[in-house]
Amino acid sequence: MKKITVSAPGKLMLFGEHAVVYGRSCLVTAVDSRITVEIKKIDQQEVKIDAPQVKINGYQRKLSVEACLNSHKGVRFIEAAIEIFRKRYGLVNGLKIKVENGFSSNYGLGSSSAISVCIVKALAEIFSKKLGCKQIFNLAYKAVLNVQGVGSGFDVAAACWGGTLFYTTGGKKIVPLKAERLPLVIAYSGNKADTPTLIRKVQKLRLKRLNETEKIFDKIEKIVKRAKKKLQEGKWEELGELMTKNHELLVKLGVSTPKIEKLISAAFSAGAFGAKISGAGGGDCIIVLAGKEKHHLVEQALVKAGGALVPVETGAEGVRREK
Ligand code: MEV
Repeated sequence: MKKITVSAPGKLMLFGEHAVVYGRSCLVTAVDSRITVEIKKIDQQEVKIDAPQVKINGYQRKLSVEACLNSHKGVRFIEAAIEIFRKRYGLVNGLKIKVENGFSSNYGLGSSSAISVCIVKALAEIFSKKLGCKQIFNLAYKAVLNVQGVGSGFDVAAACWGGTLFYTTGGKKIVPLKAERLPLVIAYSGNKADTPTLIRKVQKLRLKRLNETEKIFDKIEKIVKRAKKKLQEGKWEELGELMTKNHELLVKLGVSTPKIEKLISAAFSAGAFGAKISGAGGGDCIIVLAGKEKHHLVEQALVKAGGALVPVETGAEGVRREK
């Protein structure tokens, strides 16, 4: 039977995390590490899933049985995307799905959103539905919300459009930017963060100190707008300074950790232009902007401070059919 392979990129949040959950904008770039999904119609009335890198081996359920959204996290996003697609197009068929992660789901590079986007795209291809980026985004974002309950959708947009985007909550604005490859060094802090938990932490802070938190979001929004300009002009030194300012505001939101601060100090002592958390915080990755000639020094400093380098390039292509 017909087999389809699609892939979608992971992402890095460049500016604007957390504030983007509250109606502000952010800058996100797609990275050249991808999730690949192979999908095949099968005669048996079953959904079968293998995703060996996240320890999903031989998952299967009858088509007639409601998908169990309590199962393994990797399966939940796949099932949610299938369910959303089925509700929209009413298609019923046995499916065999294989997922390959081109990057660790620990890094916070958006594997869940990339998987959801891949599933929608692959189903569209296999059932001959012509879907554009915005339609894929709408379906995949719904799937992600059904599983996570919260999230701005910026990661889903990055997986759909690729490149570097200016993005506003819920996809109200999705503007592809002309930007050169960013001279970034990325380091994993060694701790896996849970995005919904961190979103709720900031939510609690906002409820407790509404004015103060809203002011922080407004300041972040201003930084995002300035960064958008500097990014398109390739003014890396100034962009780095804005990154650091954005990071200081994230510290005020309470989402940094001693390990993240240690990594960021190490990057500065090696001559970085700027550095910040990328994503929800609480662990995951930091991004460091530095002149190319300093990259080696920055990398050494980050490793010495206990970080693990994540070698990715920015501005990668969005979701695409491979075979
Ligand atoms: C998480 O990577 C970024 C947040 O802004 C959440 C979101 O935008 O969905 C904290």
